[in-house]
Amino acid sequence: MKDISVCSIVAVGPYDVIGQGVSMPWHSKQDFYHFKKITTPYPCIFGRNTYENMPKTPLPNRLNIVCSSKYTTSFKNGTFYVPSIEEAINFAKYNTPGDKIFICGGSMVYKYALEHDLIDVMYLTKIHDSELKRNIAENRADFTYFPIDTLEFFESPKWQTEEIKYPNGVLPVETGNSVPRFFKSVRIR
Ligand SMILES: NC(=O)c1ccc[n+]([C@@H]2O[C@H](COP(=O)([O-])OP(=O)(O)OC[C@H]3O[C@@H](n4cnc5c(N)ncnc54)[C@H](OP(=O)(O)O)[C@@H]3O)[C@@H](O)[C@H]2O)c1
Repeated sequence: MKDISVCSIVAVGPYDVIGQGVSMPWHSKQDFYHFKKITTPYPCIFGRNTYENMPKTPLPNRLNIVCSSKYTTSFKNGTFYVPSIEEAINFAKYNTPGDKIFICGGSMVYKYALEHDLIDVMYLTKIHDSELKRNIAENRADFTYFPIDTLEFFESPKWQTEEIKYPNGVLPVETGNSVPRFFKSVRIR
């Protein structure tokens, strides 16, 4: 098989928050643009919780793969279901039209993939949002967190990180409070 990178993509807010209830705690047009641009046309792997609560599935122009212990390997409604993350990765590698596949969360799936050293490249968006920061500080229990401290992640010698900058005028104008910055980290082997 050709050399295929296992990538992951996540947007992380203040205190490493990634979710609130079943969805994301911000609405960033720029991060949506980034997600679509980075992941298309590659296979995207999701945990069942994330996938079931996405507003529109399957995501177009990408093979959508969902991990769940509740399913045997099967295909329905444009989505491929598998009982393990390893099976999802193998299937995605076999079917990618290019040299990448993506692990797209949520928290449980990121945790498993990081703990098992399954990720070669991490695309990480840091969302700055002072209002959200105050909300989280007031009620931490409402939120879902990235499983590792991203400050440590950025400083770790295991990962080489660079910022991704879009040329002026490429990103859509934000309408909310979120200010994203985009990073790419490659695992040192
Ligand atoms: N900010 C971001 O970039 C971002 C991205 C994605 C998601 N999120 C947020 O993350 C939150 C959801 O995260 P979550 O941790 O609750 O759920 P999740 O990781 O999306 O899904 C968890 C489910 O996936 C399946 N699963 C996980 N690991 C598995 C494994 N090793 N083998 C087989 N199946 C496995 C299990 O399904 P079964 O119970 O069916 O076995 C598990 O209950 C939401 O708030 C979402 O908005 C944020």
